[in-house]
Amino acid sequence: MPAIVDPAVEAYAEAHTTAPPAHLEAVAAETRATLSDPGMMVGRLEGRFLELLVFAVGATSILEIGTFSGYSALSMAAGLAPGGTIVTCEIDPVHAEAARRHIAASPHAGRIEVKVGPALQTVATLPGPFDLVFIDADKGAYLDYFEAALAKLAPRGLIVADNTLWSGRILDPGDRSVDTEAIRAFNDRVATDPRVVAVQTPVRDGVTLIRRAA
Ligand SMILES: C[S@@+](CC[C@H](N)C(=O)[O-])C[C@H]1O[C@@H](n2cnc3c(N)ncnc32)[C@H](O)[C@@H]1O
Repeated sequence: MPAIVDPAVEAYAEAHTTAPPAHLEAVAAETRATLSDPGMMVGRLEGRFLELLVFAVGATSILEIGTFSGYSALSMAAGLAPGGTIVTCEIDPVHAEAARRHIAASPHAGRIEVKVGPALQTVATLPGPFDLVFIDADKGAYLDYFEAALAKLAPRGLIVADNTLWSGRILDPGDRSVDTEAIRAFNDRVATDPRVVAVQTPVRDGVTLIRRAA
């Protein structure tokens, strides 16, 4: 994926981020060796960013939409408050199986539940409230995920949406693809929706943070 930030700056930021633990290095290595599109993992920089957000919020209940092989869920688990749990939604049974294996082999076994199926259907069955919701699945559904997350967000909760700069494609007026248009629509909505306060950050591929307005 082309970097949003100057690659030298991105590399410097990664190098000055605490290195991942061995179990996450193993997840990354196996994912690169066995699954297609390993660039979908959030990786070292965004993984630690998520962990620190979870820690700062004091989250005990997290919803993730888009598990892949479990890298981001395991990153967030490291920041959970005592007794905290994560529910993560994945539509692809191969990805879900890989994630379950990695979770079982990690220090966070028992704190992360992988639910297989279309995320919107899964989320409808979950009571919430969630202290943090991480959205990182099919881009065409981002606005639906935003609504589903907001409905189950704790009063001081945080919605975190990944890939919101979409390798810079959102700035290319010639790019009218479905995913690019969906991310543009999501970005436009969250910046103007009176129910929320949002900030677009250029972390990795763009990470948007959203809270309820007072
Ligand atoms: C970008 S990857 C997630 C990466 C993961 N958060 C990480 O950092 O390792 C997106 C994942 O969402 C899954 N996905 C796509 N559409 C979905 C849907 N409708 N419901 C649930 N999961 C979906 C894909 O199979 C893929 O594993």
